[in-house]
Parts: sequence; C-alpha cells; structure tokens
Amino acid sequence: MRVLLNTALAALLAATTLLAGCERPPVDTVQRGYRGTGMELVYNPRTAVVVAEANQAPAATEAASPDGPKVRDIYKNVQLLGHLSIGEFTRQMAAITAWISPKEGCNYCHVPENLADDSKYTKVVARRMIQMTQHINADWKPHVAATGVTCYTCHRGKAVPVNVWFAPEPPRANANFIGDKAGQNTPLKTVGLSSLPNDPFGPYLLGAQTIGVGGATALPTDHVASIVQTEQTYGLMMHLSNSLGVNCTYCHNTRNFKEWDGAPPQRTTAWHGIRMARDLNNQYIVPLTASFPAARLGPTGDVAKINCATCHQGVYKPLYGAPMAKDYPALLTLAAPTDGLPAPLADAMRSVLYFGVGSATLESDQALGLTTVIATLVAQPQARATISGYHSASGELAANQELAKQRAFTVRDSLVGAGIAASRVVLDKPVQAEANLAGEDPAARRVEVTVK
Ligand code: HEC
Ligand code: HEC
Ligand code: HEC
Ligand code: HEC
Repeated sequence: MRVLLNTALAALLAATTLLAGCERPPVDTVQRGYRGTGMELVYNPRTAVVVAEANQAPAATEAASPDGPKVRDIYKNVQLLGHLSIGEFTRQMAAITAWISPKEGCNYCHVPENLADDSKYTKVVARRMIQMTQHINADWKPHVAATGVTCYTCHRGKAVPVNVWFAPEPPRANANFIGDKAGQNTPLKTVGLSSLPNDPFGPYLLGAQTIGVGGATALPTDHVASIVQTEQTYGLMMHLSNSLGVNCTYCHNTRNFKEWDGAPPQRTTAWHGIRMARDLNNQYIVPLTASFPAARLGPTGDVAKINCATCHQGVYKPLYGAPMAKDYPALLTLAAPTDGLPAPLADAMRSVLYFGVGSATLESDQALGLTTVIATLVAQPQARATISGYHSASGELAANQELAKQRAFTVRDSLVGAGIAASRVVLDKPVQAEANLAGEDPAARRVEVTVK
C-alpha cells in the first residue's frame, strides 16, 4: 500500500512539475502579414511580463566633463581610452564595474596596490572586450544600427554572460549499442528541446557553412544540402526564434521559407547578425582562449562563445532597443592604441572551413570563407596564415590522416593561388587529429586557418 501511495505521489509530483513547465493559456496572437497568410506571432502575455521586467536598461549616470588633463598624460597603462579626461575615464570605469562586477568592484580586474598592473586575466580580457564593443558599434551598424551595445547588453551585471555556448562534448565512441547519434535525440534547450543535432552553432557562428535545406528543384538534381546540413539549419532557426522570443514568421513569409522577396526586413537584419556573431567569435573571443583559466573553458577546452541569445536574451531587440550606447561615447568608435605602449592583443583571426565526407575539395560556399582570410592577409603584409587539417573519427586512421593533410593542402593551394606568397602560409599538423572521437561529425571534417 505504501509503495502504491509513494508511486501515486511521485506521479502527482511529476505531473505538477511538467505542468509548471507549460505556459498557461490563453495566448495572444499578433498579425504580421496579409490576412490569410498565417503570418502571425503567438505570445503569452504572462511570460511576456516576466521577460520585460528582466530586460530593462539601467539609467545612465550623469555625463562627465571632457575638460582637464587627458588620462594618457596621468596614468601609466591606458592603451585604448587615453583620449578621455579623468572625469570621463572614471565614469566609464564605474559604469564597467556596475555592468560586469557590481559585487566584487574594481578589484575584479585590478590589483588594488597598482591599477596599471595587467596581471589579472580579467583586465586583459576586459581591454579586448572594450575593443570588441567599439568594433560592434562602429562596424556592425547594419545589425545594431544607432542603438548599439554596451558591456551591459551581454553581461547584465555578471562577469560571465548568462547566454554563451561551448562545443558539445564528443560522444564516447561505441559507448552503447546505439553508437554515435551524431548529437541527435539529446533534446537541448539550444534547439528548442527538439531532437535536432546538438550543435547548431559551430558550423555557422564559427564556421561559414551554408545555411539551407533540400535542393532548389523538385527532383534532387542539384542537391545543395545534406540531411545533416538541413537538420543543422533547422537547429539554428530554433535558436534564432528562441533568442528573439519570436516565431518563424518574424523573419519569413512562411509560404516559402527560402524566398527573400516578401520576407520581412528583419530577415536581412538577422542575416547580418549571423555574420556579426561569427566575426566576433573568430576575431575576439576565440583568440582570447589562452587568457582564460581552465575553469572558464568548456568540455573540449574551448572558450565561452557568443550567439544571438548573448545579446538578445529573449527579446526582438536587446533591452527593447533602449539606446544605451549613446551615453558612453568611449565605446562608440574604434580607439587607436596609444603610441609607445605595447599593442593590445595581436589581431589574430581564425576561420574554419568544412569538407564533405571523404572529400578534400572545397565547396564553393566554403571557399567564400577564404575571402576573409585572403583580405586579412592582404591588409596585414606582416601576418602569416597557419593551416591545420582535421578529419572525423569514422574510417581507417591512416587514410583519415592523409585526408586531413590533403584538406590542409587544398586550403594552402587556394591561398597561394590567390596571390599570397607561399612563405607566408605555414602548415601545422594538429595533435587532436589522432584523438578525434567524434564519429562522422560534420564539424570534425575541417581545416582551421589562423592569421596573425
Ligand atoms: C571589468 C574590468 C575592470 C573593472 C571592474 C575596472 N577596471 Fe579600471 N581598467 C580596466 C582596463 C581594461 C583598463 C585599461 C584600459 C585601457 O588600456 O585603455 C583599466 C585602467 C584603469 C586605470 C588606469 C591605470 C593606469 O595607471 O594605467 C585606472 C585608474 C582604473 N582603471 C580605475 C578603476 C576603478 C577606480 C575601478 C572601479 C570603480 C575600475 N577601474 C574597475 C578594467 C577594469
Ligand atoms: C557581445 C557580447 C559581449 C559584450 C558586448 C561584452 N562582453 Fe565581456 N564577455 C563576453 C563573453 C562571451 C565572455 C566569455 C565568458 C567567460 O568569461 O567565460 C566575456 C568575458 C568577459 C570577461 C571575463 C570574465 C570572467 O570572469 O571570466 C570580462 C572581464 C569582460 N567580458 C568584460 C567586458 C567589458 C568591460 C565589456 C564592455 C567594454 C564587455 N565585456 C562586453 C561577451 C561580451
Ligand atoms: C530572426 C530571423 C529568423 C527567424 C526567427 C527564423 N529564420 Fe529562418 N532564416 C533566417 C535567415 C537570415 C536565413 C538565411 C541565412 C543565410 O543565408 O545566411 C534563414 C534561412 C532559413 C531556411 C533556409 C532556406 C534555404 O535557403 O534553404 C529555412 C528552411 C528556415 N530559415 C526556416 C526557419 C524556420 C522553420 C524558422 C522557425 C523555427 C525560422 N526559419 C526562423 C532568419 C530567420
Ligand atoms: C552584439 C549584440 C547582438 C548580437 C550578438 C545579436 N544581435 Fe540582433 N540586434 C542587436 C541590437 C543592438 C539590435 C537593435 C538594432 C536596432 O535598434 O535597430 C538588434 C536587432 C536585431 C533584429 C531586428 C529586430 C527588429 O524588430 O527590427 C533582428 C531580427 C536580430 N537582431 C536578429 C539577430 C540574430 C538572428 C542574431 C544571431 C545570429 C543576433 N541578432 C545577434 C544586437 C545583437
């Protein structure tokens, strides 16, 4: 009897927990397109209130006077913000403290005895973050417009932003009879609790894999996307929708998801957003990996990276479009590093190119990813490209290693073919190639290029 009662109680508890996870009806809908086209946005007014409360921008403090001596003439180690007056600089430091470490205060980044000291990693990271924020506001206007971002957009008073992503742990090879699930049927929140592959980010927000499904014709004559690519595309789309708190109709005319004609303008903004997140991860976040302590890294040793939710946090415009950035002019334009001081972290740039199963040929959409690498090499005549080829775990090891090498050769030949001197292209055999246990993982079939 007691057993029965306990079971009944457990079932009741389980039911309440399940129900608590559901959204209580009724929900509201807003029409976003012509009548009859089903272009409707569904939302729950009760959850909307909670989200709204969590996404209010803090009021700006009073602007400081630009008069008086410049910081660069007083302080010893100000590399980016030297053009500010003491008052402006102090106000900016106070704001950064409120945005990043309100509890820990200035000492989260500073050694109290010597504010010029760079020995805390948080200060080194913060300096690079200042540059990244300036870059977003100055160079990504097609996405962030005049609204822009501050540290608060991502951090919200926390040292580590709430929404970041890591590469998932590779599955243990043949751990059970199901074998390698290719990251499927692991219902993660990132893919809307669906059974889509568990890494919708790596291929798109780090690599430049084509986003697309199926073929362009009724019969598969010019098939452009594999089933895996199709599923990854849907995974990414679930993330886009969840991060912005909208459904598919916010960006698509659902009569035809592919077509740009008739799609709402938000889709174009989102297109730039995808490129921006990829750029920030490759140019700013990944090159910082070595600066972080091991405890901050993910299961495969990678740094916490940016996706749409890092800024948006469930809202169609971060903080409902509150124009916070305009009150912090030091974060709006790229600052030239002060002369005579060590340049901030070298502008390393990392790009990942993906290959088909057993293939060492670069598909045209992947070759597009190389144009950024070439442009960077042309713009920085001192920089060199380091190329590492990788393979997935399925198949024979010796053949796989040869394949990884051929992939690296393909990329080297493309760079040299584009006019980059061969002496500036270095091949670097990665140690991970042997230890790759990820099965037939599309993210494993890659070449990594670092320019610095
Ligand atoms: C999130 C990290 C962070 C926090 C918190 C922070 N700072 Fe800073 N601080 C920096 C960075 C980065 C620099 C260097 C900026 C540059 O290179 O342009 C800096 C530089 C300084 C300098 C110049 C020191 C010198 O001689 O070179 C002073 C002074 C300073 N901060 C004061 C403060 C005060 C006061 C607080 C607390 C109200 C504070 N900071 C909080 C990151 C931080
Ligand atoms: C677009 C989003 C974004 C913006 C804007 C941003 N950050 Fe970050 N920040 C990140 C991510 C992602 C990390 C990596 C998380 C981690 O620490 O593991 C990070 C990490 C940090 C860390 C290291 C914290 C720790 O304890 O590991 C500091 C310090 C920091 N940011 C300061 C700043 C400052 C200062 C600004 C504004 C000038 C800023 N960030 C703007 C995304 C952002
Ligand atoms: C915030 C805007 C946004 C939302 C929300 C969104 N999408 Fe997308 N979608 C895009 C953009 C932008 C592209 C094109 C990406 C590119 O080419 O880089 C795209 C591409 C696609 C494609 C590929 C079309 C092709 O060319 O083969 C499909 C399919 C798709 N979306 C389905 C969906 C579904 C289903 C949802 C809802 C779960 C959704 N999208 C939600 C912006 C969005
Ligand atoms: C660095 C922070 C940041 C990141 C990361 C980011 N966004 Fe945004 N996004 C913004 C800001 C700021 C705006 C507001 C621009 C404005 O006021 O017009 C915005 C606006 C938008 C809009 C326009 C909304 C509207 O109703 O006009 C869409 C759509 C959008 N973002 C999609 C995305 C997608 C999809 C991603 C991920 C691929 C993404 N964003 C990543 C900061 C960000």
